[in-house]
Amino acid sequence: TAFSSDAAKRLAAAEALKLVAPGMRLGLGTGSTARHFVDLLGARVAGGLDVICVPTSEQTRAQAEQLFIPLATIDSVPELDLTVDGADEFDARLRLIKGGGGALLREKIVATASRRMIVIADSSKQVKTLGAFPLPVEVTPFGLEVTCRMIRATAEATGATGSIRPRQTAGGKAFISDNGNYIVDCHFGALPDPDELARRLSAIPGVVEHGLFIGVAKAVISAGPEGVEIFGR
Ligand code: A5P
Repeated sequence: TAFSSDAAKRLAAAEALKLVAPGMRLGLGTGSTARHFVDLLGARVAGGLDVICVPTSEQTRAQAEQLFIPLATIDSVPELDLTVDGADEFDARLRLIKGGGGALLREKIVATASRRMIVIADSSKQVKTLGAFPLPVEVTPFGLEVTCRMIRATAEATGATGSIRPRQTAGGKAFISDNGNYIVDCHFGALPDPDELARRLSAIPGVVEHGLFIGVAKAVISAGPEGVEIFGR
């Protein structure tokens, strides 16, 4: 029988669950892979595991509440021990593109507030060069067009070109993030210099945060038909 990418996601999630110890403070990621992790964690909590968790989106909060996972706000806990989250792409240097689900800002705040951030992914997320997945950028509604022009200009300076499209909902309305901002998806294709692009995007005033996670993930747990592979530590 064919090994589905969903089975791979669950396998990666199960492997990450082994890193969880009683008493830990955890960051919970967002997306279909993180959903598996929260699901498996919920079963452990039901069995008596004692953890406190900070969700990275309202979607994950709702899931965690249904599973009676104890939740805290990011500001009410000291440093988190571990955050487990998905990614849209990762490369050999554990650089990531995230934000396909639109949760990149809280994901980056929570990941960066954690001693350790571990990515769980099916092996199709591994790429040689980041950028086939359109790079999500969270921007303020004020000055959307101006900010898009600045993103275009700054990307060109790093050798990245292509269309920049404000994300829409299935109903054709502007997608609004949990933080009340817009997301623009940058269809640049292969990014020649992700580090430089990340630095430059962060310097644009209307950019709240971008989906390049550089130096954030300590390890990637990747799963596929051949089993689990761990990059980093
Ligand atoms: C959410 O904003 C994202 O960063 C997700 O972590 C990412 O899109 C991966 O999602 P899947 O696990 O659904 O592929």
